[in-house]
Amino acid sequence: LRIILVGFGTVGQSLARIIHKDRERIVDDYGFDPQITTIVDSRGYCQDKNGLDLAAALEAKERLGTVAKYPEKGRRRPTASRIISTSEGEVVVESTPSNFKDGEPGLSNIKQALTTGKHVVTVNKGPLALAMPALLELANHKKLQLRFSGTVGGGTPFLSFASKCLPGEKILGVHGVLNGTTNYILTRMENSSLGFQAALREAQMKGYAETDSSNDVQGFDTAAKIVIIANLIINRRLNLHDVEITGISKVTPQSLRDAKASGAKIKLIGRISESKATVKPEEISATDPICVPDTLNALTFSTEHAGNVTLIGKGAGGEQTGSAILRDLVDIRGRYTI
Ligand SMILES: NC(=O)c1ccc[n+]([C@@H]2O[C@H](COP(=O)([O-])OP(=O)(O)OC[C@H]3O[C@@H](n4cnc5c(N)ncnc54)[C@H](OP(=O)(O)O)[C@@H]3O)[C@@H](O)[C@H]2O)c1
Repeated sequence: LRIILVGFGTVGQSLARIIHKDRERIVDDYGFDPQITTIVDSRGYCQDKNGLDLAAALEAKERLGTVAKYPEKGRRRPTASRIISTSEGEVVVESTPSNFKDGEPGLSNIKQALTTGKHVVTVNKGPLALAMPALLELANHKKLQLRFSGTVGGGTPFLSFASKCLPGEKILGVHGVLNGTTNYILTRMENSSLGFQAALREAQMKGYAETDSSNDVQGFDTAAKIVIIANLIINRRLNLHDVEITGISKVTPQSLRDAKASGAKIKLIGRISESKATVKPEEISATDPICVPDTLNALTFSTEHAGNVTLIGKGAGGEQTGSAILRDLVDIRGRYTI
């Protein structure tokens, strides 16, 4: 299975480490050999049709800042989408930054991959948040797989749990905590009385929040995940513009204390009900299983017959998300004799 890996940051490098370390086990357990043949970052790419030496690619990235400096086989640009169209490979893994304004560069990369006959595994939420129905249709039309396990829940299989463990059930609604950064901030504001800005700075210092954490704090990251769940699990053709979104920047330590006094907590909740999709701070009973602390995620599926079913786990992290990509690759390989 030849893989074109686009984006070589936290997640892309984690995937390379996992494949480098576990190749023998993957071959033994699943009967296929994942070969990363092309890696692209923002400054260039490296390519070897027989499979790149992943230790050398990781070293070039760490020491020299770009895979373009991979020994002999590294090159400066062209753009990722041109490399995708001209390179051989069965699967494109898209792990460039999530952009919720126009979905780029991920949107063009995914379209280019599908139109040139390649399956896609994406961890990038931007293209799905803005154009998931159209992308699924394109993949379907081309008889290719578009997989995205790592976009919701990192390594915790929220999406496949619902699609594989609850078949036959009617899922009436979904709600939960889907963003670790904001959950950490609210937990710290509640437990230590820090104000919003101080809690955000602490989350940034600990590496839980990015320098530009606006997508998390303003609720766009949670809303993107709600869109993905709605399209995949509830068959609702939503995009980001259909979600009512309120972030957490106006939550105060006093409102958290008031909630606590009445046995509740304020959480940033993504919710799909029968009539609408919302992301906003909500008071939730402290005994509700979705009231998870720190960076944890939790999602409740409200089903017609089984009642509420809740899954809890880590929502992000490079290694966890890399393992979700591997799950998708195994699945694609299992469905197709490539
Ligand atoms: N980190 C997590 O825990 C996590 C969990 C779930 C989903 N995700 C999603 O996974 C994606 C990647 O996250 P990350 O944490 O790995 O981000 P990251 O560390 O910022 O890495 C992004 C990578 O994309 C590359 N890139 C940016 N613009 C590009 C372009 N125009 N062409 C080619 N490459 C480009 C960057 O190149 P340079 O290295 O040259 O800057 C970098 O290698 C995001 O969409 C994120 O939302 C992340």
